Amino acid sequence: MRKYKVAIAGATGVVGREMIKVLEEREFPVSELLPLASERSEGQKLEFQGREVVVRRLKPDSFAGVDIALFSPGASVSREFAPHAARAGAVVIDNSSAFRMEQDVPLVVPEVNAHAVAQALNRRRIIANPNCSTIQLVVVMKPLHDAAGLERVIVSTYQSVSGAGQKGIDELESQSRALFSLGEIAPSKFPHRIAFNLLPEIGGARDDGYTEEEMKMVNESRKILGLPQLAVSATCVRVPVFYCHSEAAHLFFKEPLSPDQAREILRKAPGVKVIDDLKEHVYPMPVLGAGDDDTLVGRIRKDLTAPNGLALFIVSDNLRKGAATNAVQIAELLVRDHAAALRSASA
Ligand SMILES: NC(=O)c1ccc[n+]([C@@H]2O[C@H](COP(=O)([O-])OP(=O)(O)OC[C@H]3O[C@@H](n4cnc5c(N)ncnc54)[C@H](OP(=O)(O)O)[C@@H]3O)[C@@H](O)[C@H]2O)c1
Repeated sequence: MRKYKVAIAGATGVVGREMIKVLEEREFPVSELLPLASERSEGQKLEFQGREVVVRRLKPDSFAGVDIALFSPGASVSREFAPHAARAGAVVIDNSSAFRMEQDVPLVVPEVNAHAVAQALNRRRIIANPNCSTIQLVVVMKPLHDAAGLERVIVSTYQSVSGAGQKGIDELESQSRALFSLGEIAPSKFPHRIAFNLLPEIGGARDDGYTEEEMKMVNESRKILGLPQLAVSATCVRVPVFYCHSEAAHLFFKEPLSPDQAREILRKAPGVKVIDDLKEHVYPMPVLGAGDDDTLVGRIRKDLTAPNGLALFIVSDNLRKGAATNAVQIAELLVRDHAAALRSASA
């Protein structure tokens, strides 16, 4: 079996480390793993397949012979370095927001729009991985849309601190410890205390009163589902949970769709696990979703405010399906369906 040289830009971050883990778990055919990060991490050792791999500094000429470059060094670094990787012949799969809304860059969730991958191969050679909150929402919305025609979405998120990277995790941990020992709380990654609090602000503030994270959910959902007119309203909230994003979603359809029909459809949907028995206290929660590659959905019920409306609660691991697993699934699609494009580019 052919194996591929895989670079990971941002290898020392929470998404980068998870991508290394997922490549190993899913036995992706890697001939050589090239971990890249900033000069701060140069020489650091990571483990892959039981061997040490040494982190190198990300540079424009880092990508010689690389087939697939998985990027998670943040949007500005991706914007600068992903084109170097593509020019060197690699196909880039980028976790940041840098390219997501560009017309000639596909935004891919394999369960929803795997076909879009092909669009990248003759042009930019960059594929964008969507925002973590968007991925779990579209995985659930797509099969329901196919059945009843989605018209409108109202979603509120409860997003974990790991969505803000290692510094987000460190801040919740240190503030929680400080609160119990009556120490000083000094917010730095988040604008206010996050321990035992929640913050209705993720991403930059826009003039229209929304945040960048909220508009990512609007625009990315439309692009992935191919529904440019879909009405989406989002409120994104950071909560003091380490892993997994949760969402309360209200979906409104053209055709009637009962909760039982929705449950049946979602039980058969790829990448979805229905966990739904309120009377037995069975529903999705971050503690159930952490480490799981499936998106959990439950609390499925009628929305009482409009005909053809459903309310649902959705939980997914933002570092797994929300980032690393989705990126590696895209790499798997490349290898399965477009290996010639990889081979010819790196030959
Ligand atoms: N966390 C999530 O749930 C999630 C989900 C989806 C998408 N994303 C996106 O993924 C990206 C990374 O997020 P993260 O959560 O992994 O952040 P993180 O834990 O802060 O990691 C950032 C990584 O980028 C590297 N980096 C930073 N500046 C660099 C530079 N100038 N040159 C080379 N490498 C550089 C860091 O290297 P050093 O260790 O050397 O500093 C580190 O490896 C972001 O764009 C984020 O929006 C995150």
